[in-house]
Amino acid sequence: MAQSQDYIVKDIALADWGRKEIDIAETEMPGLMACREEFGETKPLKGARISGSLHMTIQTAVLIETLKALGADVRWASCNIFSTQDHAASAIAASGTPVFAVKGETLDEYWQYTDRIFQWTDGGTTNMILDDGGDATMYILLGARAEAGEDVLSNPGNEEEEILFAQIKKRMAETPGFFTKNRDAIKGVTEETTTGVNRLYQLQKKGLLPFPAINVNDSVTKSKFDNKYGCKESLVDGIRRGTDVMMAGKVAVVCGYGDVGKGSAASLRGAGARVKVTEIDPICALQAAMDGFEVVTLEDVAPTADIVITTTGNKDVITIEHMRRMKDMAIVGNIGHFDNEIQVSALRNLKWTNIKPQVDMIEFPGGTRILLLSEGRLLNLGNATGHPSFVMSASFTNQVLAQIELWTKAGQYENKVYVLPKHLDEKVARLHLDKLGAKLTELSAEQASYIGVTSQGPFKPEHYRY
Ligand code: NAI
Repeated sequence: MAQSQDYIVKDIALADWGRKEIDIAETEMPGLMACREEFGETKPLKGARISGSLHMTIQTAVLIETLKALGADVRWASCNIFSTQDHAASAIAASGTPVFAVKGETLDEYWQYTDRIFQWTDGGTTNMILDDGGDATMYILLGARAEAGEDVLSNPGNEEEEILFAQIKKRMAETPGFFTKNRDAIKGVTEETTTGVNRLYQLQKKGLLPFPAINVNDSVTKSKFDNKYGCKESLVDGIRRGTDVMMAGKVAVVCGYGDVGKGSAASLRGAGARVKVTEIDPICALQAAMDGFEVVTLEDVAPTADIVITTTGNKDVITIEHMRRMKDMAIVGNIGHFDNEIQVSALRNLKWTNIKPQVDMIEFPGGTRILLLSEGRLLNLGNATGHPSFVMSASFTNQVLAQIELWTKAGQYENKVYVLPKHLDEKVARLHLDKLGAKLTELSAEQASYIGVTSQGPFKPEHYRY
């Protein structure tokens, strides 16, 4: 592992390969390339010092280089220990952007790398966060509360939190006032995913959000595309690369039928699996039923399912009891943001056989085995390469617009969570139509006035749900 200068990557020699794939990805990311075209000269992000925590993939490399083209200084880490594409990280490091990400890094390294995205070489502070899942934001906010004397750094028995707390304590000892200084310098955070957005709304509710935030996830052109069409392509990709299992005819259970669940169920159905869905929300359960999926409980179907996938953003969805009752060689995985959807820690004292990176066979005392993907971490990024470039272009164009918005208009926002205005959402979609050869119909002035919009949009009221 190369560990020189201001980056940590697996092997800097992978940079050439990474660069070739970045070049290809650019041809599939029209939204980001349009941002470079539109804002490359005026550089609206000049002065922004962005600490980014988001899966260090080829697509993210195009995002990083777009932020830089718009004038920002950037430091980057991955938001998951298994999601880095080492060639992408190397290409970014080789081009001079500090990046700290290695596929298969330990949790200890994960928090060290998260810390590194706040360590600017001139000793200055971060002033913007670009987050995916909220870990970078949480690192600063927890640290600042600890510096203020609050007892937030103890959760005896939780090994993962202990690792985070150890890193915070180390930084507090080495750089007194570090967290408070950064918190006070941060003008805003833009958050990529459902789980991170939930964390932000909880902070807002408790009055603990010290800067404005933009919820990128709930741009329509993010959650109704990335979460849905992205998972539609990348879920089955991850299961296939992990297991090579024949999917046609198998019984697959998708836990959760939100945006990710809808894409995941469609992915498995497209591969020929017989798909069942579990839900807690009657609206989503009814949607699943009317989309033609049997709505079941995991208690009922655990013993007969071949593949069980969680997509809920919730915890303890697949319990040790469910797994104990599963078929021999059932495949178990998660595509939600955090690994606590599956009770992996309860499996730790069983017999594990590592098949290859991110694939483990776990044997119960009675002899039945399960195949666990990515140790319960999001398998489309752990076992495959995440979503394709095109859909990530829509997500990341929202990220870029959100960063510009908060950086250039910080004073106009309160310390609350916002979504981007609808005209920007429509703009992101518009930027992706040409590539698909889609031709929009234009409203006549009479038609526009009849349905109560202008012919330039926005075309829908705020309450419209798509
Ligand atoms: P969502 O809120 O639209 O959907 C989650 C669904 O799970 C909801 O319908 C909810 O009712 C259901 N649910 C909650 N607890 C449940 C339980 N115990 N059993 C069955 N169903 C339950 O959220 P979304 O956008 O679908 O995101 C889900 C997760 O996936 C989040 O953690 C998000 O951050 C993550 N995500 C992962 C991506 C990836 O590429 N792996 C991409 C986008 C989001």
